[in-house]
Parts: sequence; C-alpha cells; structure tokens
Amino acid sequence: MAIRNIIQVGDEILRKKSKPVREFDEKLGELLDDMRETMIKNDGCGLAGVQVGILRRVIVLDVNHMKIELINPEIIDSYGEAIEREGCLSVKGETGYVKRPKEVTVKAQDRYGNEFILTGVDMLARALCHEIDHLEGILYIDKVIKDYKEKKDKK
Ligand code: CO
Repeated sequence: MAIRNIIQVGDEILRKKSKPVREFDEKLGELLDDMRETMIKNDGCGLAGVQVGILRRVIVLDVNHMKIELINPEIIDSYGEAIEREGCLSVKGETGYVKRPKEVTVKAQDRYGNEFILTGVDMLARALCHEIDHLEGILYIDKVIKDYKEKKDKK
C-alpha cells in the first residue's frame, strides 16, 4: 500500500467526469487500499478516485466507523433535506454549509464486482452525495450556502 498525493482545488482534473470501472482486478484492489490509507493519513472520511488523479468511479468512505467501498455508485432514491457543514481533502482549511438530502439510497458494486444497495442517513447520506459529486466533477464549494448561520451558532 502507498500514500497517494491528494490533488487540490484549481487543478482541472477535479472538474472532469470519472469513467465507470469495468475491470474488477488486482489493480482496482490496490487503488482502493491506497485510497483508504491516503484518506486515513489525512484524517478524512471520504475520498474519490479523481482526488488521487484516477478518473474512475471509485469511492472510499469511513463514516460512523463503517469502512465502505463503492464502485460505480448511483443514487437511486433520496429523501428530505439537511443543511450541515462539510469540507473536502481537496479544499484544505475550509468548510461551508451545504444542503443535501437527509437520506439517500445508493446502488453500487464492491471491489469484486458484486452489486449491493446501501441506505445512508445524515452524515453517511452527506458523505455519499459529496463523493458521488466528485465523480461528476462537482465540488462542495459549488454548492455552499453563503452567509448561512446555523441556529445553534446564534445562541
Ligand atoms: Co471531497
């Protein structure tokens, strides 16, 4: 396993659309292992392939102590909305409030190509949406609600 370099905002690769994974081989496993190691090393809770320069539809997540890998993920259902603060390993030192669905259901494949369905609420729903946006070349900063003040901030 190896720590990979995380590409920072301003690099145009982050704006490109990632391609579907077709080969569920050893190389994919290596990429996923490296991505996980890189995410942990940088105290992140999610990382998409494009962030390490690989334009493939792969995501690793570490939310609520759940280690999740998603290949070719697709949001098939969503419900409600929630505004919370988020950040990104490709936008260091910044956070912002973004509106996301409260709950999303995603269809994806594991590293061996097996399909599964995952429903995430709150933090996990947010992380799934954030990472799937990366696969489309979208960054959370595109969606930040400017001047948003959380209710509990005001007290
Ligand atoms: Co991100």
